[in-house]
Amino acid sequence: MTPQFRKLLFFSATLCVLLCAASEIGPEGEALLRWKDTLLNSTSLSSWSLANPTCSWFGIVCDEHTGYVNDLYVTRASLSGTVDTFSFPMFRHLETIDLSFNNLFGAIPTNISLLVPLTILYLSSNDLVGAIPYQLTKLPKITVLGLQYNQLTNPDAANFSVSPSLQNLFLSGNKLTGTFPLFILNHTFVGLQKLHLYRNALSGLIPENLQDIAPNLLHLDLSSNMFSGHIPRSVSKLTKLYLLYLAENNLTGGIPMELHNINGLGDLDLSRNMFSGGIPKDLSELVVLQDLDLSWNMFSGEILKELGNLTALGTMDLSWNMLSGDLPRSFSRMQYMLSFDVANNLHLGRNILLEEFSNWTDAMLFNIANNTFTGSINPDFCQISSLEDLDLSDNLLSGLFPSCLWNLD
Ligand SMILES: *[C@@H]1O[C@H](CO)[C@@H](O)[C@H](O)[C@H]1NC(C)=O
Ligand SMILES: *[C@@H]1O[C@H](CO)[C@@H](O)[C@H](O)[C@H]1NC(C)=O
Ligand SMILES: *[C@@H]1O[C@H](CO)[C@@H](O)[C@H](O)[C@H]1NC(C)=O
Ligand SMILES: *[C@@H]1O[C@H](CO)[C@@H](O)[C@H](O)[C@H]1NC(C)=O
Ligand SMILES: *[C@@H]1O[C@H](CO)[C@@H](O)[C@H](O)[C@H]1NC(C)=O
Ligand SMILES: *[C@@H]1O[C@H](CO)[C@@H](O)[C@H](O)[C@H]1NC(C)=O
Ligand SMILES: *[C@@H]1O[C@H](CO)[C@@H](O)[C@H](O)[C@H]1NC(C)=O
Ligand SMILES: *[C@@H]1O[C@H](CO)[C@@H](O)[C@H](O)[C@H]1NC(C)=O
Repeated sequence: MTPQFRKLLFFSATLCVLLCAASEIGPEGEALLRWKDTLLNSTSLSSWSLANPTCSWFGIVCDEHTGYVNDLYVTRASLSGTVDTFSFPMFRHLETIDLSFNNLFGAIPTNISLLVPLTILYLSSNDLVGAIPYQLTKLPKITVLGLQYNQLTNPDAANFSVSPSLQNLFLSGNKLTGTFPLFILNHTFVGLQKLHLYRNALSGLIPENLQDIAPNLLHLDLSSNMFSGHIPRSVSKLTKLYLLYLAENNLTGGIPMELHNINGLGDLDLSRNMFSGGIPKDLSELVVLQDLDLSWNMFSGEILKELGNLTALGTMDLSWNMLSGDLPRSFSRMQYMLSFDVANNLHLGRNILLEEFSNWTDAMLFNIANNTFTGSINPDFCQISSLEDLDLSDNLLSGLFPSCLWNLD
């Protein structure tokens, strides 16, 4: 082989690598590259190049048979730029877009609604601004709209119509204002399972007719807003609820007795409101309840022994209330308890038999501080070997402090 010939051979081989590879880049690949070019930081997309077939690119999943792009999944990748240069009409088969945890800014382009097959859209934890485009809800197959942790504002409620396919609407950590969103209220979301509106600036009453709007809800998170008024009794008609978070609002009144009708309620957080009255006995019928947080309210009265029937509880936080009386001995039945906090009630506690809790062999936190408990610490209490955080301070306990407790992790 002459050197010239060898050079030519090398040249044509190189050309083939370029051209042959390039021939694998269809219109979808080209559109992705055009978008990549507009990004301010696309370091994580180094595999997006003509040298590799599109379907092998980082974050791209293609349909095995058709070769079209099915999923775009680029999260926590420091992508910086906007989405409105993304050529949505080029993608006829895109079902999942997950660009969460990046530094995308600007508005959500309305033409994203051209992605007819789209079922899952996560643009969460970016810096997107502007109104949530009502067009998003026109996506006929959408099941998950994850737009949480941006700076989005209320959509045009009049035009926000909802695809019945929608299951999860995640809008926490945005800038929604006004009363409970009209764009939700004025519709029926039969398929809606999770509604997360945590940490916005919503105010006014919690609507009475949630069961008409979203009868099949599993999660309702309205925490960290400025809702006021009572918990409507009708909340109990959301019979499929597993999680109910109303923490950090301005809610008043008591816990509606009817709440116990939600048989499958597993997680109830009413902390940091202005609730008052007693903790209703009926709450003890929530037999699958695992997490109960009523802290930082004005609940008063005695803790009823029936609450010991909440034997599935793993965390119970009743701290910072005005509860009084004794801790019911029936609490020893809650043997899956991990974290128990009744601190700062001031008048809670008479003679406490700490050995009653020796059953709680997995407990990591046990806090009864700043109350009026009397009695001594029986060494049987030491059987809770998992304890990491024990606070018995500011009580009237007496006797010896068992040496075993000095060995806490
Ligand atoms: C660009 O992205 C890479 C990783 O994808 C990251 O390590 C780098 O810090 C980013 N640069 C800037 C300026 O954000
Ligand atoms: C999508 O809409 C944005 C504005 O919302 C526009 O700038 C962009 O050119 C549109 N893209 C396509 C491909 O139509
Ligand atoms: C919502 O529904 C109410 C009554 O059905 C109606 O008066 C109101 O105009 C609607 N609001 C919007 C934004 O569609
Ligand atoms: C939005 O709703 C308003 C009021 O119903 C209507 O006048 C307007 O035409 C709608 N706009 C679009 C783009 O659908
Ligand atoms: C809560 O309600 C009280 C009195 O009703 C009011 O003064 C306060 O501003 C409210 N707080 C919030 C965060 O809405
Ligand atoms: C609930 O607890 C009370 C007292 O601790 C007990 O008498 C009652 O039978 C319990 N109810 C159920 C359904 O377990
Ligand atoms: C420990 O838990 C079991 C099961 O709930 C219960 O029957 C028993 O009385 C408890 N023991 C003590 C010492 O409380
Ligand atoms: C004890 O509880 C009261 C009332 O809840 C509170 O005002 C006080 O600051 C608490 N003391 C300590 C040391 O936390």
